[in-house]
Amino acid sequence: MKDNLYPIYDKMLTRQDKEALLKQHGLMVWFTGLSGSGKSTIAIALERELQKRGLLCRILDGDNIRCGINNNLGFTAEDRVENIRRIAEVGKLFVETGIITIACFISPTNEIRGMASEIIGREDFFEVYVSTPLEECERRDVKGLYARARRGEVKNFTGISAPFEAPENPQVVLDTSVKALNECVEILLEHILKIVKE
Ligand code: ADX
Repeated sequence: MKDNLYPIYDKMLTRQDKEALLKQHGLMVWFTGLSGSGKSTIAIALERELQKRGLLCRILDGDNIRCGINNNLGFTAEDRVENIRRIAEVGKLFVETGIITIACFISPTNEIRGMASEIIGREDFFEVYVSTPLEECERRDVKGLYARARRGEVKNFTGISAPFEAPENPQVVLDTSVKALNECVEILLEHILKIVKE
């Protein structure tokens, strides 16, 4: 009986079949960094460059995740773990479909990012630390959240009243206070094209 629990897995097409169809390898490009550090801006530019080269991508970010599948989660330490756990599980499905998946989440701790990497699989996890300093993110304050956090109106705000741990071994580090957007994208393309192209 137990052997028969998931019989469709033997019949479904494999990741290799999908990758052959797409002529690319699946990969998770995982951006981590403070709010306002530039994760989404780089991800959007990267996606366009990859698409130009005939490569299929999917961005996962707060807009499509925290407004949808994770709309019941907030910013406590527990909710952030659950946020990233679900994102990693969903991301793994995309990667196994051969898609270059680009995740843009603060993912503030080594524990959280370690969990994501374990779920997705270390060999498919390409970690990019957008290391733009807090002072610069706060100066930009694109969403006005840093000002609100300083006034105590937003609780558990990363970098102000909740922790951010710099990753220990990211594949790439990009500080957008000293590197232009096109430079960041060039650096990423150089690494990623080698991995995803057949
Ligand atoms: S994570 O820590 O769980 O990875 P996630 O990337 O999904 O965070 O969401 C971060 C975005 O939510 C920020 O860019 C910001 O716009 C918004 N946000 C709202 N409240 C907070 C908060 N307390 N801490 C950090 N970001 C917040």
